[in-house]
Amino acid sequence: MTWFEQPILAIETSCDETSAAVVVGRRVLSNVVSSQVEMHKKWGGIVPEAAARAHVEAIVPVVSQALSEAFLDKSQIRAVAVTNRPGLVGALSVGVTFAKGLSRALAIPLLGVHHLEGHLLSIFALSADPDRAPELPNPRTLEHVALIVSGGHTELVHVRGFGDYVILGQTIDDAAGEAFDKSARLLGLGYPGGAAIQELALTGSPRYALPKGLTGDTLDFSFSGFKTAVARLVASDPNLNRVDMAASIQDTLTSVLAERAVRAVDSQNAQTLSLVGGVAANQMLREKMAHECARYGLRVLTPPLDLCTDNAAMIGIAASWRLARGERSGWDLDCHSMAGL
Ligand code: KG4
Ligand code: ZN
Repeated sequence: MTWFEQPILAIETSCDETSAAVVVGRRVLSNVVSSQVEMHKKWGGIVPEAAARAHVEAIVPVVSQALSEAFLDKSQIRAVAVTNRPGLVGALSVGVTFAKGLSRALAIPLLGVHHLEGHLLSIFALSADPDRAPELPNPRTLEHVALIVSGGHTELVHVRGFGDYVILGQTIDDAAGEAFDKSARLLGLGYPGGAAIQELALTGSPRYALPKGLTGDTLDFSFSGFKTAVARLVASDPNLNRVDMAASIQDTLTSVLAERAVRAVDSQNAQTLSLVGGVAANQMLREKMAHECARYGLRVLTPPLDLCTDNAAMIGIAASWRLARGERSGWDLDCHSMAGL
């Protein structure tokens, strides 16, 4: 397995974080994330036009900070990588246009990256800090099953090798992160809701019964009935215990995710499971996954917390192996709201 062993500047603006990172190979030299959460909180969710405009404001300082934290000048960057799909087109355009300008001005290669491939390869990140060396998959025996769980995606993917991905199952309606976020809004916890539910649930007991969606042997997910059940309980019970409700929401969602992920690994006779995306930051999900995997003798890989939620470092790592294979994007690089892996 070869990586592009020269500094890459990576940019991620697909949703509500403006992020820039410098990576060399799979080593992360800097990873700066400027979140728009405070702004979107006012509206209880992401407003696409406001997201795009906030990226316009943040992109130059965020890139400058990523370069200075990596102790590099822009003249030392050898390639620029940018998320170009899937995501909010207005938001993606800010990163893509900036990356094209930089590629043109510095006469260095440009590469568009699939956001989900970034999440998938986030497990390869090596920190600049040598004390924080995660357990890493052997790139030669990469085969594993990945659970991508974020605000926009819930997918079980058979990773057969680099760039060789087969979708085994996915949500037929809401994403897991959306289920957390919508439930949090119903509990008056604001946006985004995953971390807030985790916090509130700490001392709670999961005593409210909530539906787990699809039953049977499927590897797909459905969370719309879950959201409706939460709404009904919140509306109908004036004495609802919010702490126990948060615990019930977290317990139900993490159980569904862990159970189906282990079934997916089993369906492929794989030995390893990876857990990536924003919801992978959930402590209970990490623990349940570790527990289930230990029961079946499976290995579980999760990126560090700061590489679970959206970040440019993972985009740099995905770009690093594609650039090493000689891949480049042209000036016609476009943005796409939807794109298969
Ligand atoms: O990957 P990400 O940053 O953005 C997308 O690509 O969508 O994921 C954001 C999602 C949000 O829905 C947020 O509520 C969820 O990740 N999230 C969590 C936690 N931290 C972030 N969900 C559950 N527990 C957490 N600790
Ligand atoms: Zn994401």
